[in-house]
Amino acid sequence: MSNGNVIQTGLDVEKIRKDFPILSIKVNGKRLVYFDNGATTQKPLSVIKAVENYNENLNGNPHRGAHYLGVTSTEAYEKAREKVRAFIGAEKSSEIIFTRNTTESLNLIAYSYGLNAVSKGDEIVIAISEHHSNILPWQMISKVKGAVLKYMYTDENGRISEEEYKSKITDKTKIVSIAQVSNVLGTKYPVKEIVKYAHEKGAVAIVDGAQSTPHMKIDVSDLDADFFVFSGHKMLASMGIGVLYGKEKFLLDMTPFLRGGDMIEYVTEQDATFAELPFKFEAGTQNVEGAVSLGAAIDYLNSIGLDKIEAYEEELTEYALEKISALDYVTVYGPKTAKGKGGIISFNVKDVHPHDVATILNNYGIAVRSGHHCAQPLMKHLGIQASSRASFYFYNTYEEIDQFIEALKNVRKWLGYGRS
Ligand code: ALA
Repeated sequence: MSNGNVIQTGLDVEKIRKDFPILSIKVNGKRLVYFDNGATTQKPLSVIKAVENYNENLNGNPHRGAHYLGVTSTEAYEKAREKVRAFIGAEKSSEIIFTRNTTESLNLIAYSYGLNAVSKGDEIVIAISEHHSNILPWQMISKVKGAVLKYMYTDENGRISEEEYKSKITDKTKIVSIAQVSNVLGTKYPVKEIVKYAHEKGAVAIVDGAQSTPHMKIDVSDLDADFFVFSGHKMLASMGIGVLYGKEKFLLDMTPFLRGGDMIEYVTEQDATFAELPFKFEAGTQNVEGAVSLGAAIDYLNSIGLDKIEAYEEELTEYALEKISALDYVTVYGPKTAKGKGGIISFNVKDVHPHDVATILNNYGIAVRSGHHCAQPLMKHLGIQASSRASFYFYNTYEEIDQFIEALKNVRKWLGYGRS
């Protein structure tokens, strides 16, 4: 498995870590162990410098000015869009809409597609493990349109069985929306099969790639999802830039989500016609430096290779699962083996509130997330209020896992329970 930091998969993690200045900081006198990558990832120098270069040399308002900087900013923005297109295997760059984040992308689909496509008595099907951003828009559509919101439930291993999704997706289903990887359980769901089945039943399929796109090769053409969404800040880029991919045949018919500057063709006193794709969905001045950061992040990820990243993270997760499972006062939620699981481990320590776990780990310089992870219906399904969550990226190491496990062994002691 591990040979220092030179791993079977060929990732030289020590070298990679030098690209990320923040990974060298000290927290409470210890070197930072950053295990909150599910919430946001850190930035390599190439991304930091690409943004700097944009602001130093290229900044203007794209699609507006005929002057030099109007042109350079347009070129930077559209170059980033093309990089996103190639990165996820979309056919046309006009199918790539820049948004603020996954949440905005999902809301755009709900408002611009859902409100028109869903009628009274129709069904919308999502997984119980969805992030609130893939629940609340569908609750809204269901309430406004009189539709039924149905859930696919995870089993005791954190998986959704074929029997389960086939029993929930029916001829009445209009929309199926599911995360490719759960932000709490880490489960990689069989989204290709679910998309195929949704289509057989005449439903539109949406895949939330927020926790998958940073960690595995995405090919939307192969996946055949009608919509695919993700955020830049979970894949080395800045906050405030996200992506909505949609098949052209849907995007063309959809009404705009936000209305205003740059998304129009012609405006009269009482009416307006809209710009062509993708601009119809990009009202107002856009986050060009965010798009530039995403383009640079894609270049960086490609230089390492998504297949290698996925394989390395699977090895790291297997190692962490083995170690954490040996602690009998720790409960792990979701799949107990790394196969078919992203680098996300949610857990609770017996008798200790997850916030206390996170606070104690922070004393050792270790960053994990604690709380309900914006997935309260899943928490209820699991019979818990909250959990702690360690989430990895390709710059994490076996040594960091060892540090995390050693610190975890001390958590109950800190609170006077003894070690176990
Ligand atoms: N959606 C992010 C997470 O799961 C914030 O932490």
